[in-house]
Amino acid sequence: MRIVSGIQPTGNLHLGNYLGAIRNWVKMQDEVTAGGGQSLYFLADLHAISQPHVPAELGENTREMVAALVACGIDPDRSVLFNQAQVPAHAELQWLLNGTARMGWLNRMTQWKDKAGKNREGASVALFTYPVLQAADVLLYQATHVPVGDDQKQHLELARDIAQKFNNDFASEAAPVFTLPEPIIPPEAARIMSLRDGSAKMSKSDPSDMSRINLTDDADAIMQKVKKAKTDPEPLPSDKGGLDGRPEAANLVGIYAAMSGQSVDAVLGQFGGEGFGRFKPALGELLVESLAPINARFLDLRADRESLDAILAKGALKARELAAPTLTAAYAALGLVRF
Ligand code: TYM
Repeated sequence: MRIVSGIQPTGNLHLGNYLGAIRNWVKMQDEVTAGGGQSLYFLADLHAISQPHVPAELGENTREMVAALVACGIDPDRSVLFNQAQVPAHAELQWLLNGTARMGWLNRMTQWKDKAGKNREGASVALFTYPVLQAADVLLYQATHVPVGDDQKQHLELARDIAQKFNNDFASEAAPVFTLPEPIIPPEAARIMSLRDGSAKMSKSDPSDMSRINLTDDADAIMQKVKKAKTDPEPLPSDKGGLDGRPEAANLVGIYAAMSGQSVDAVLGQFGGEGFGRFKPALGELLVESLAPINARFLDLRADRESLDAILAKGALKARELAAPTLTAAYAALGLVRF
């Protein structure tokens, strides 16, 4: 079993990243390394340049994200933790896969449509070919499982399509070049929504900081954001069906369920019939209590820049070594001459 996943080092880690992906990264790291497999987690800094960014901030954001991941429980002695830019094989394999990926496949990506909006002519080529780099990220390591939130499912399906077509076109059935990866998406909290709008996902790019809980928020900020979260005037229902058509209520109950490790029905068993005046403080306290230890570790780790760089240096060495055989096989399958 080989687990691979990535996160863009743009801004803070938020509750959507944590509940949708990072918590699973930690769980799978523990399971897979106990069973003799391998987990690789990376900062997708090459993806981060597909949209306007501030070069002077990218390095700091990358190091901060390493500190945040380690604070959440990613152990650089057990997982390979690195940034893409230090492993040139990612960009190389993307080019090799560009010959296999189809324009029509990329045109159907909902993230491309959302991010490019109406201005497709003005969008960067990198934003369009972004999912091919994402395919390279996982195929390079023969990933068997990829823990992600629901919004990345379509990109993972594309990675499988690219792998399958490449294997069909350039390899024999007995010796495929790439493994087809399985997405691992959590049953609860696969899509955490904005605290200000139950129809938009919680995101780093939302201009309002009140729309998300950052893992670096202190207790006051968390309580305040939960208190101000958009809701409706009805009390909470006593079962899951009663949340239909109430996206904001469903989101807050979903967050409570995911954070406390209970089902949505169990949470409603406890809070059904109550108004938000009682539920919101309980949710705020649960979040403060759960995030406080992560926050404290993050602040300690962030201060030690040398250790963060050492983690990235060690991770890159290991990642380069693990990437080499697949990259060589892909070049050879395409008939490219290399000595
Ligand atoms: P990114 O940086 O946007 O998000 C990192 C992870 O967090 C999940 N996530 C969410 N889950 C639930 N609710 C939300 N509101 C929410 N927001 C984010 C994402 O699904 C993701 O798992 N393209 C990727 C990074 C990437 C990648 C990869 C992932 C690059 N190469 C290869 C997997 C495999 C991205 O931008 O994620």
